Amino acid sequence: MIAPGKRRSFQRRVLAWYAAHGRDLPWRKTRDPYAILVSEILSHQTQISRVIPVYETVLARYPTAEAMAAAPIEAVKAITDPLGYKIRGRWLHGAALQVADRFGGVMPQTLPELQRLPGIGRYTAGAVMSFAHQRDAPVLDTNVARLLRRYFGVVASPRARTRELWSLAAAVIPKGKGYLINQALMDLGAMLCRAKGPRCDACPLRRSCDFRRMARQGSRRPLP
Ligand code: ADE
Repeated sequence: MIAPGKRRSFQRRVLAWYAAHGRDLPWRKTRDPYAILVSEILSHQTQISRVIPVYETVLARYPTAEAMAAAPIEAVKAITDPLGYKIRGRWLHGAALQVADRFGGVMPQTLPELQRLPGIGRYTAGAVMSFAHQRDAPVLDTNVARLLRRYFGVVASPRARTRELWSLAAAVIPKGKGYLINQALMDLGAMLCRAKGPRCDACPLRRSCDFRRMARQGSRRPLP
């Protein structure tokens, strides 16, 4: 699929860039799967700078899934609704209830169990597996998908493309370093490989990026 040399240089560049430029986010200081779940549900379609204070309030008020499950949903929504995308309060509280009732307060440790919690799709389940349980699970959010699509020049039809991107996201993980490369790809996608105004000049992947090569050749194809 990807030539081993290309994969290794991708991994090396991404990890070196992250060591120098990665963001210092509060959920990178914890391995608590409940806290990671809170951070991911709050981050959904929301700017990180707005998420941080709400994340801290939620965890101060409800430090465990059981504490949240014992609270009325209105109290949780009162904290999370100001971020917009109001369904997330329902997801968060619903997931906490299930963790408390069905799993004895202990967050599940497998992808299928996580994906059965309310509001948790493959992305969020992958994030909990990778960021909390430290498994080499792929994590494909919009930013990572854009970066992989551009770098590897993925041109398949939308449905085949999603499948291909998930398998690329798995293939680029160096063994035992899923946590690091996933966090790195999320930052690189959000900070440099932006949808509008990508900052190719600052990108560690610019010399071997398909998208960059096409852009320099003057391709008129729209930004993928
Ligand atoms: N958005 C959601 N989760 C994130 C993470 N772990 N790093 C960067 N951006 C994120």
